[in-house]
Amino acid sequence: MRTVTVASELGAPRGTRAVVMTMGALHEGHLTLVRHARSIADEVLVTVFVNPLQFDDPADLERYPRTLGADAALLEAEGVDVLYAPALDDVYPGGVPIVTVAAGAINEVFEGAARPGHFDGVLTVVLKLMNLTRPDVAVFGAKDAQQVIAVRTMVRDLNVPVEIAVAPTVRDDDGLARSSRNVFLSASERDDALVLARALRAADAAAGSGAAVAEVIRAGEQVLADTPAVVVEYFAALDPASAQPVADDYRGDAVIAVAARVGKTRLIDNVATHLGQGSSA
Ligand code: PAF
Repeated sequence: MRTVTVASELGAPRGTRAVVMTMGALHEGHLTLVRHARSIADEVLVTVFVNPLQFDDPADLERYPRTLGADAALLEAEGVDVLYAPALDDVYPGGVPIVTVAAGAINEVFEGAARPGHFDGVLTVVLKLMNLTRPDVAVFGAKDAQQVIAVRTMVRDLNVPVEIAVAPTVRDDDGLARSSRNVFLSASERDDALVLARALRAADAAAGSGAAVAEVIRAGEQVLADTPAVVVEYFAALDPASAQPVADDYRGDAVIAVAARVGKTRLIDNVATHLGQGSSA
């Protein structure tokens, strides 16, 4: 594996290039993205860059885990070809960028509403990293459902010549979705956090039995109510094309998404489902 800190040394791809963009603190979820990338391209390039532009809370940026040595070892073991781990000024040589990407209406809902400027920051760095690494395909994780929708929308609306691939959420055996933030959970908080996956499963099961949107959401909320230590920010069904909340009579593919605080740690999770009586998949 070549480790590169300046984009000018990335070199030309050897065959098709897949990029996996990360902020480091790598876990099994990221490695699944890497393996997916390996299965669809000749060359796998991973970026590790904690992007200040997407943090609305400076304290969150400050305490975001940084584990480059361990990350590099994991990536080497996965047979990654190139690790691009730039310093701030390689990505933002002019300091805070003047021209940025705007996520539009995606900023107004769910993660966008909870974290002002987050998706503008994500899309700006994703486009910059695409331009710096010139991949054929970029692989993202289904766990960040709204991020996937935002990136797909940018690629479509700005004619970015990069294919987007999505790899499934990786869960621990007890259902907890892998996240770099899980390291902040105490043992009892981790137990509490399991309610998120349970609630999503309950909602998905209700959808599968043909329940309408309100009932599907209620099924999940009932489960969440069992664990008051988990402070729910939203539990909702959203349109997988636009990230907007679905109408009460919506039928079709949907994402049930949840965000909650467990202690000081904010977690998100989601499940893809199908809404609409009698037509569940
Ligand atoms: O999903 C992430 O880790 C980040 O949002 C990304 C895509 C690497 C952009 O900084």
